[in-house]
Order: sequence, then structure tokens, then C-alpha cells
Amino acid sequence: TVLAGAGVLGLGIAGFAARPILWPRSGTDTQALKIPPLLDPRASGGSASLRVQTGTTEFYPGRFSETLGYNGSYLGPTIRVRRGDSVQVNVKNELAETTTVHWHGLLVPGPLDGGPHQPISPGQTWRPLLPIDQPAATLMYHSHVHGLTAEQVYRGLAGVFIIQDDEEQRLGLPNDYGVDDLPLVLQDRQFEDGLLVMPNGMMTLMQGRRGDIVLVNGTPNPVAQVPPRLVRLRMVNASNARVYDLSFEDKRAFHWIATEGGLLERPVQLQSIRLAPGQRAELLVDFSDRSPVGLLTTADSNSRIMGMMPMMQDFGRDRVAGGAFIRFEPGAAASGAASVPKLLIAQERVQPSAAIRRRRLVLNMGMGGMMGGGMMEEQMSGDTRTEAGPMAAPFSINGRPFDMRRIDESVTLGNTEIWEVSGEMMAHPLHIHGVHFEVLSRAGRKPDVLDQGLRDTVLVREPAELLVKFSKASQGYPFMYHCHILEHEDNGMMGQFSVE
Ligand code: C2O
Ligand code: CU
Ligand code: CU
Repeated sequence: TVLAGAGVLGLGIAGFAARPILWPRSGTDTQALKIPPLLDPRASGGSASLRVQTGTTEFYPGRFSETLGYNGSYLGPTIRVRRGDSVQVNVKNELAETTTVHWHGLLVPGPLDGGPHQPISPGQTWRPLLPIDQPAATLMYHSHVHGLTAEQVYRGLAGVFIIQDDEEQRLGLPNDYGVDDLPLVLQDRQFEDGLLVMPNGMMTLMQGRRGDIVLVNGTPNPVAQVPPRLVRLRMVNASNARVYDLSFEDKRAFHWIATEGGLLERPVQLQSIRLAPGQRAELLVDFSDRSPVGLLTTADSNSRIMGMMPMMQDFGRDRVAGGAFIRFEPGAAASGAASVPKLLIAQERVQPSAAIRRRRLVLNMGMGGMMGGGMMEEQMSGDTRTEAGPMAAPFSINGRPFDMRRIDESVTLGNTEIWEVSGEMMAHPLHIHGVHFEVLSRAGRKPDVLDQGLRDTVLVREPAELLVKFSKASQGYPFMYHCHILEHEDNGMMGQFSVE
């Protein structure tokens, strides 16, 4: 049954074998952190052009990997826009396969969203006019073509999208792109003999694709030169599946200032922060003591699948090679005063009492579909509401695997609702398009300190209540909600809703 189930999905069982780490890391083979070029439509007549292309990337000296990128061989430029602007984007697909470009976190009507319903065929150009109508924030863009999202993102199709506004500019936060305002795109990748490889197999499907090398902006083992003052780090988790628990080697405290939805009301002092796939966080870090320091992540406990026998887990997948995956080296220039604002912005909050309806989403991960049912299924999804039988797809939401022709939920434009979401067998980063939401509770308790602010992606296992206001219309092109472990998404853990 294992092989039969795997065969249906076109997978081998290679994932059961431990994967040796062939590329040695010396600890001295550091590289300067790459900074994605800035693409500012204000400097080019209000428009921005992206060419989706294939290329070769020299991650390690003399080793050329085949990759994908926007206007380059891997990743894409940082698109930076201002609230109130309308940005004409031209996306030309120069690949031999279909792609899409989804603006993750951007609040725009359905036809502009760039999800599975806006495919760009090879040779075609997609020209959305994006009205920028939300507060300053760090967003991302990435491929979202159904069934190929995981592969296209893994190979390089992702980038950073920054929104600025007047209120944020007035706060005097570090703002000099590439100098004291750094985008840090985190992606774990697997390399063999210095070449990027794409792990496949059943464990890869179950856990999501993971690697033991964390690239930052496509750079392995990077060193960032920073000024000896307060620096703003825009952390973007563009990994397929890895959850990062980030902290500095010297345990220094930093300030967390923004979530996916933008600035918090006030900075929150932390020593570590968790970032699930699809999530972003802006941090202020003080480098005025001029001591070099590395940023670490602990092993990803979310690569262990609940109830699965230990010998079936590929234990290499939870860890990252070496210690710190990026080092910061403060320069010797005169230090500026490091001052963190006491207050950031006042948020327009939605009251929970405004919610007029409650919906429930269970992110199903059934061993039934993988293994042919039986004892394991009972053991692993005692709480499942899966309607389908043991041969059902391994991933679904409320028992229904994704179907582009089916609208799963219909929402009324302008309404506020509570969505109660939970996930089976492991934690799943649920992302909802076209909205920002607040986490009201987790497992019936008050949410964690790290849950605060406006979010578009939340890591869920036990039931969490989300307060969601629907302010953008789908206009005939439904919005998605899905697990941001891209292998889960591609294989059915996604649904769609209309807002009319
Ligand atoms: Cu970042 Cu629907 O995706
Ligand atoms: Cu999105
Ligand atoms: Cu998932």
C-alpha cells in the first residue's frame, strides 16, 4: 500500500533514506550577504517590470545550479511602493511553463491577487494595476501556480515587496535600504556537492521540502556588514516548510516592530522570535557595541509528524548545518544614537463583537490516504472530520482537497467573522488571501505574545480563533486560504472563498 499510495502521487520512497550531507562547511567559507536590487516604480514612471526567467546561480564558488528568478537568476528585486500609489506591474513569463505572481499580504481585489486563477502562460505578459491601499509593511511575492508552487518557489521564484507610508516615515526608523534597512529572505535548501538539489519522496511530501543550509537572500553562509547603530531587519520566511526559532548567539535582546500586516502599536522586546513559512517580522537590532554576532535557529520541531513512527522520520531534516546561519559585522564608523521609538502606530482595531458569523476550518493531514488506512489512521487523526474514506488525498481542508472549480466559502464584502482553525498531525501555517486578521485565542486561551498584531499567516495546530474582516472583493476570482507548507498546499491543503 505504501508504494501504491506513493505511485498515485508520482513519488518514490527515497525520502525514507537518510540524506548524507556531502558539502562540507568550513565556517570560513563566508560570502558577503547579497542584497536584492531595489525596484522603485516611483523612479520609473509608476511601473515595475518583472521578467520570470531561468538562469544559473553560483551559490558556491565554481558550482553552477539551475534556478529561476525575477529579473535575475534567483529570487527577485525588492519592489518598494508607497501607500496611495497605483503601481502598474508588467510580468513577462519567459519560462517554458506556466507561472503566476501572487502578492502575498497585499490587500487587492481578486483579479489582481496573482493566485492560481491568474496563470501567465509561457511568453505572455500579465499587467495588473495594483492600488496600494494599506499601511506600511513588509510583504512578499511568489509563484502560486497550482501544483507547481512548491517547485517554482524552491527553485527561486520569490521576492520582497515593501510598502511605505507617511506615518511610518515620520517615526525615524532605519530606512536606508541595503545599509541599515535590510531584507533577509530565509530559505533552507539542500545542496549536493555544492549544487542545489530538490529533495523528493514521501517524507518530503509529508514534512514539506527542507534542507540543512539556510540561504539568506540566496547567499549561503553570509556575512552582513552593518553600521554600528540600530538596524532594521525585515525577516521574510520564504522557505517551503521550515519554521525558524531565531535568536542571536549572544542572546542579545532586540525589538520586534512589525508583523505581516505592518507596524505594531509599540515595540516588543524579545530574545527570540518564531517565523513560520509565509510570515514576516521586522526587527530593530542594536549593533552599537560593534561586536560581531551570528543569528541562529534551533532545530525545527515541526518536522516531526505526530503519531508517525520515529524510524520513519528523516531526522536530518529538522536541523540546520553549523551554528549561526548569518553573521553581522558592525563597521567602525561613528555610531549613531540607537533609539527605539516608544510608540509606533495606532491601529484601527476591529471589535470581536462585530463578528457576525463563525466558520471552522480543519487542516487535514491523513495518513489514511498515504498508507491505505487502518490502525495508523485512527492513531493519528482521532479528531479528524474527514468525510472521505481511507483512500482520500493525504491533504485537504474540512475533508475536501482543493478544487479550483469549487467555492468553499462565500463571504459578504465588509463583514467581520471569526474563523476557528486547527491542524492535524503537525502545526500548519495557515495563510488567508485578501485579508489581515487578529488571533483572538489559542486552544481556548489568550493568544501568545508572538500572536499579536495584524497577520496574514498563523501557525496552527490546536484550535485558534481568528478575527477576520473582509474588505476586498473577489470580483469573480476567489481568494485562497491554505497551508503555507508549499508541498501541502500543492497537494490539496487549500480552499477558496468569494467575497462579494
Ligand atoms: Cu504566500 Cu497563497 O500564498
Ligand atoms: Cu497570499
Ligand atoms: Cu500543512
